[in-house]
Order: sequence, then C-alpha cells, then structure tokens
Amino acid sequence: MFASLKSIGAYVPSKTLTNKELEKIVDTSDEWIRQRTGIQNRHIAEKDETTSDMAYKAAEVAIQRSGIKKEQIDAIICATITPDFFCMPSTACVVADKLGIKNSTAFDISAACSGFVYALSIAKAFIESGMKKNVLIIGAEKLSAIVDYTDRTTCVLFGDGAGAAVISADDDKKRSILDVHTSSDGAYQDFLITPGGGAKHPCSTDVIEKNMQFLKMKGNETFKLAVNTLTKDVREILKKNSLTSDDIDFFIPHQANFRIIDAVGKKLKFPHEKIVLTVAKYGNTSAASIPMAINDWYEKGKLKNGDLMLLDTFGGGLTWGSALVNFNQS
Ligand code: UT7
Repeated sequence: MFASLKSIGAYVPSKTLTNKELEKIVDTSDEWIRQRTGIQNRHIAEKDETTSDMAYKAAEVAIQRSGIKKEQIDAIICATITPDFFCMPSTACVVADKLGIKNSTAFDISAACSGFVYALSIAKAFIESGMKKNVLIIGAEKLSAIVDYTDRTTCVLFGDGAGAAVISADDDKKRSILDVHTSSDGAYQDFLITPGGGAKHPCSTDVIEKNMQFLKMKGNETFKLAVNTLTKDVREILKKNSLTSDDIDFFIPHQANFRIIDAVGKKLKFPHEKIVLTVAKYGNTSAASIPMAINDWYEKGKLKNGDLMLLDTFGGGLTWGSALVNFNQS
C-alpha cells in the first residue's frame, strides 16, 4: 500500500501588514525588505483568532476537496511552533474537536519550518505500515504571537496562516508520495530560538522583561546554512530516486526569503516557471509555508493531477527535509 496526497487546502487571515505599515513600527524601509527578502506583505491573525481556528479552516477545505468523510480520518497531525496552549492540550486535539472528529489519533509536532514535511513523513509511515488509512496533516502558525514588533531583524519576515492536506492509502505508486527525507542538527539550536517560556526558563517577569518569549534568529548564519543544506538535500533525494531536476514539475521550497529560493533554484537549475513562490505576499509562515504554497498553485490552476512536486524545507532546530510527492487531488 502507498500513501497519496489526496487534497490540499489553506486559510489566510484577511488582515494584512504591508512593508509601508512596518516602516511606521520599526526602523526599516519597503526597499530594504523587498531587496533583502522579496517580501511585500504578510497576513496577520486577529487578536482572538487562534492557530487552531486557522488550522480548522484549512482542514475543512482539504477534507471537502478529498471527498472522504470526516469520520474516515483516523489521525490528525498538526505541525506548529505556535500551539494554542503551552504543553497541552495539543492544537491537533482542539482542531479535532472543531471538526467534530472523535476517536482519532491527534498530536502536534514541533519541527519549526520543516514541520509539514515531517508530518508528511509520519503520515506516509502510518499508511504504509497499515496502521492508518486517512491522515489529516496541518501546518498552522500564528507567528505574530511570538514576533517582537520592536525587533526589525525578525518582525519584517513573518506572517500567519495555515495549510492542510489529506493523505490516504492508495494502491497506485504513480499517485503516491514517492519519498520523504527528514533530518536535523541540534548543534545549531540557537540559530532560531524562542528562549523563554519553556521549562528551561519558565514564564516569569524576568523572562518578559528580557523579551525572552519572542522568536530570535541569527539571520545571516541561518541564510548561509539554508542555501547549502536545501541544495544538498534536493540533490540527495533526486539521486536516491534516480531522478533529475528535469523530472520535477514544480519545486516548492520553504518560503523564508526570495534570495534563498533564488540561490537554491539556480544551483539546482530549476527554470523560474517551475519554482513556486508565495513569499512576496505571505512572508515566512513557518510550518504553514509549504502547504499554503501548494494550495496557492492549485487554486491558480497551475498544479494538475499527475504533477510531480519536490518539497524542500529548512528551519529551527535546525531541521530540514525534502519530499517527492505526486499531486493527486481526488
Ligand atoms: O524560516 C527559517 C529559516 N529562516 C531563514 O532561512 C532566514 C535566513 N536569513 C535571512 O533571510 C536574512 O539573513 C535576513 C533577511 C534575516 C537578513 O538579511 P541579510 O542580508 O542577511 O542582512 P544582515 O543581517 O546581514 O543585515 C544587514 C544590515 C545590518 O545593518 P549594518 O550592520 O550593515 O549596518 C542590519 O542591521 O541590514 C540591517 N537590517 C535592517 N535594515 C532595515 C536588518 N534588518 C533590517 C530591516 N530593515 N528590517
């Protein structure tokens, strides 16, 4: 039995935060942000809109497009670094409740921007082992909740949103997820970190006074590692599967920075029309970035059944991963 991506869905909050608006908040400029990142806009959730609200809306779209009934879903995996609740309950359990799904396995995974690809690998393993038949995987983030809007080196980069996919058992390899590769190196744990609020530095006035509850990033160092790791990872998964860049219909990288995507695309010799780009309008939405990008391409009518997608991601941990996925919307 193979695992197949049956459907994609996404949700984007309606409120936007443009570069021009950021100019009024921190010492930055539209020109700097565009030149250094390619970002023009990002979407921001309402104050009372949670990660699970966005995840639920993305999941509703994916389930409806999959043609399966909610009660057929036997696992829900939510990749997020901005869960509704610290520790418990998991966002996946909250989403299950909103969807009205009972008795399903439900849990969150923490792999930062690589979360969706990690979730895909778990769904594939669940299905190929025969343990599950229909797995709902979600990448959802309310990054505005952990972004420090006084820190210009990070606040211009991130946005909110959610993407979801239904992964189901299928007997045809041509419709399946061909391969998923995931990896990590904890030696770089301080490159992308939210230092406060966990068990190491529990929430306290000291943590708040030092702004330790917010996301911090060593941008420059992360940039260099991202380009090299993303490129190496793609070369490895293509080689392992006896494929070349020419066999790929769409390259769908994590949307952190246009310059990273452009550098990786050039090294791998992907023509522009094969590279899926959403970073200009959504910014970096961490675990939601890849499913939101797939959904964007699908809704534009560019992605057709039978297209072979190459997903490639890199983020906090550090974590990274890639996947070869046949698009197969029901
Ligand atoms: O999603 C997980 C993976 N994340 C990534 O892969 C992100 C990787 N990093 C990046 O995308 C880039 O490193 C950034 C966009 C974060 C920064 O771009 P950069 O070209 O690496 O800039 P930099 O950090 O080298 O800073 C260059 C200058 C500095 O000023 P000085 O020291 O040269 O005077 C910064 O202070 O730009 C300054 N700067 C800004 N200026 C205006 C930093 N942020 C801003 C800003 N507006 N928002």
